[in-house]
Amino acid sequence: MKKIYFGTNLKMYKNNQEVKNYLIKISNNLSKINTKHKIEFFIIPSYTSLESAMNIIHYQKSSPPIIIGAQNMNANEKGQFTGEISPLMLQELGVQLVMIGHSERRHLMGETDQEENQKVLSSLKHNFITLLCIGETLEQKNYHISDEILRMQLKIGLNGVSIEQLPNLRIAYEPVWAIGTSGIPASAEYANNKHQIIKECLIEIFGKPGNDIPILYGGSVNQENASNLIIQPYIDGLFVGRSAWDADQFHSLIQESITAYENNENGYSETALLLIKYLGGKDNIGALTHCATRIRVILKNETKIDKIGIEKINIVKGIFSVANQFQIIFGKHIVDEVYLTLKNLLN
Ligand code: PGA
Repeated sequence: MKKIYFGTNLKMYKNNQEVKNYLIKISNNLSKINTKHKIEFFIIPSYTSLESAMNIIHYQKSSPPIIIGAQNMNANEKGQFTGEISPLMLQELGVQLVMIGHSERRHLMGETDQEENQKVLSSLKHNFITLLCIGETLEQKNYHISDEILRMQLKIGLNGVSIEQLPNLRIAYEPVWAIGTSGIPASAEYANNKHQIIKECLIEIFGKPGNDIPILYGGSVNQENASNLIIQPYIDGLFVGRSAWDADQFHSLIQESITAYENNENGYSETALLLIKYLGGKDNIGALTHCATRIRVILKNETKIDKIGIEKINIVKGIFSVANQFQIIFGKHIVDEVYLTLKNLLN
């Protein structure tokens, strides 16, 4: 059974007392989450709250447990690095996760891929779950070099990481243009496509074990888009900012995402496989891609097809998942054919 990942970075918000209150609420909420899936859940407060955060999770003992992470870390164990925090200091507090290369560190503090690499190596060496954040800027996206940027951030950032260390590695894809109050959320299709690029690059670097490295999406995740993001085949989890900072709101976002994920999973095996068969099997998978596109049109414009028909395809997200895995584009005649076929199927 697949593990699903949820986490939040509290940035430079929430003081010590606020983190404590938040964690108590979050851990009570977590026990109400209803799922058959394994969940990995982490919270990344500021350095000054780490010790009390560790105490709270020790006494609250939620299920799933809350993993506490640090927002940054110096690669060195000690030295003349005023204002920095070392891996040994984090270990002393019992912190389990370290986030490296958040967009705000890269772009506001000017951290380079080479520096992130040193931190990643040190973090893994000190047995922390290591969350490497990557993502392209709007300018890079507009130059159509997003894939190259992601591949570069991965290849430099993960240089020297061994296969044995991979179980502790997580990647967060956070397009810079999607983060924060002025961010535009990436569409689920865009995010899924970039996650696929990341997955392929991880396999290129590490071979087959690269396939198992979880990839989380972050950047203006909210209650409206979370469900559609989590059902994407290449998205393993959600890394949430603002929408997670109210404990109750984060709880509903997680519960709704899990429910969507599970509905989608059920739909995948039944409807999607049936549809693949109906459309001529995997040889004609391009048609399925178009089919999904058409279904989106239908869902956005319900007058095109009757309501009852739409209700019959409530597991339609399963079809999206299948279709999104295949990028072969066929001609317009196939699109129309598929649409007609689907319409007949639904009526
Ligand atoms: P946001 O933050 O969800 O508020 O855009 C995401 C992040 O910075 O990780």
